[in-house]
Amino acid sequence: MKAAMSGSWWSDAVVYQVYLRSFADGNGDGVGDLDGLRSRLGHLVDLGVDALWLNPCYVSPQRDHGYDIADYLAIDPAYGTTQDLVDLVSQAHAHGLRVLLDLVPNHCSDQHPWFAQALAAPAGSPVRDRFVFRDGRGPDGGLPPNNWGSVFGGPAWTRVSEPDGTGGQWYLHSFDASQPDFNWRDGDVRAYFEDVLRFWFGLGVDGFRIDVAHGLVVAEDLPDLPADGPIGRHPMWDQPEVHEIYRSWRRLAEEYRSHPKYFIGEIWVDGTERLAPYLAPDELHQAFCFDLLVQPWDATRLRSAIESGLATAQAVGTSAAWTLNNHDVHRVVTRYGQVQDLSEPDPQDLLGSARRTGPVDLARGAARARAAAALLLALPGSVYLYQGEELGLPEVFDLPDEARQDPIWVRSAGAELGRDGCRVPLPWSADAPALGFSAPVAAPPWLPVPDWFADYAVDRQTGAPDSFLTLYRHLVRSRRRVFDADAPVRWLVPPDPAVLAFARGDGVCLVNVGGRAVALPPELDRAVVARSGADAGLPCDSAVWIDAARVPGGLRSVGWDVPSGVGAPARA
Ligand code: NOJ
Repeated sequence: MKAAMSGSWWSDAVVYQVYLRSFADGNGDGVGDLDGLRSRLGHLVDLGVDALWLNPCYVSPQRDHGYDIADYLAIDPAYGTTQDLVDLVSQAHAHGLRVLLDLVPNHCSDQHPWFAQALAAPAGSPVRDRFVFRDGRGPDGGLPPNNWGSVFGGPAWTRVSEPDGTGGQWYLHSFDASQPDFNWRDGDVRAYFEDVLRFWFGLGVDGFRIDVAHGLVVAEDLPDLPADGPIGRHPMWDQPEVHEIYRSWRRLAEEYRSHPKYFIGEIWVDGTERLAPYLAPDELHQAFCFDLLVQPWDATRLRSAIESGLATAQAVGTSAAWTLNNHDVHRVVTRYGQVQDLSEPDPQDLLGSARRTGPVDLARGAARARAAAALLLALPGSVYLYQGEELGLPEVFDLPDEARQDPIWVRSAGAELGRDGCRVPLPWSADAPALGFSAPVAAPPWLPVPDWFADYAVDRQTGAPDSFLTLYRHLVRSRRRVFDADAPVRWLVPPDPAVLAFARGDGVCLVNVGGRAVALPPELDRAVVARSGADAGLPCDSAVWIDAARVPGGLRSVGWDVPSGVGAPARA
């Protein structure tokens, strides 16, 4: 079977991630909602993106802000109604924007009716089998069934009280205790999620981002982890049985013949060999290329992540999905403004490597983030942007402790800041109350918005020639004009090894990742069609796009072109 990629809307789309709680608040209660999003849809249209991905907005007690779902078939009243979602989808479609929702199949909320049924039923009953319940160890079963830890800190098991009040079995939760893991070996679970997919597809939704897509199935015998960490495949993640689930979903997606539905996986596995099977032509369409996100600002490391992302995509016949930001990692302006850690990230803690603290040089981080945007938007494939990235927002480190809500912060007793700092509500108007996030303002934003966010407000940046927003609009809107969609990456050989340089057709992208400015031959300088910084040439931490058709004699005339393809060896 050959992947149906070429010509598919998603294969080279720019997708804008909407963290709904923090995007725009339409009813003034301090929490972003669908009404707010509808009223600000013009921002996405102006930016020129092709689609939006909404973080989970189903009924949820919000212990993990929507990744703990109590009802998969209804919108949380805090965000609006299911009809509001339908209206949003049709309004978005009218603007040519696709809409992706977030599917959370690894776990639900402890408020989901199935979990209540499981707790009310005796051990061994079929309704408990929808989750991973096990007897504990030790004389009275008082110890967890194994030594697995939760991603959010602490043990991955919580003990329940049986209906008669005695200490009972334990249930597995890869994340917070309020997020019990489903048992994907159970037929009810499989059937339920097919219903969920059909429900939202039937309402016009174009696809799903799949949460922890590598996590659904755990090793059946639940083995302890060796004291020194897992040897080989981690029993909590990336089990072979997960692939049959995605094959069945892909069949379901293809039933929508005129507009096949789309899936992108959040898959944190180490290396191409582990990722590729998820992207087989009969499984998921795309997976985020997190390998690039976790790299430091270093030419060799960035290039090798790009090459491996391209090679994986090419090997399975899909396109890469690049991203540098999302609601789980520190914002890229901040990451690139920190001391760059050139050691290889721990494969078991890739996310942790993108959530470091430490002093930040914001000016440097901003310059690099702008250059990185030019890099991403020049690559073949799709690009996922996270709200606020187009404004150059830094991570907010100085949230008051009492305002923080992330279960990572709570479960680590404050040892880890967690993710609240990248989820602060967006600044729309520098001079408005709550910086225009809420209209009208009846309650303060759910996370405090720092005063200094005013400098990043959309209204301040609109029309300002040097703003992040102006740069992003230019890059997003001109990428398809500058770079030939069908042309592979052709690496070039510029004189300075700290410059990443590639062409796709006549479009050329140069990124100076090094510490000193690089002079451009005048014929290249004259053919620049976009630059990430204000100055001519190629200053350090900057990028340019060049139209090689405007270079007399072409790239060869400046000696940078080499006949090479995707697989060209990285320079030593
Ligand atoms: C990954 C999501 O991106 C994150 O926000 C969430 O907390 C975990 N999965 C658990 O659902």
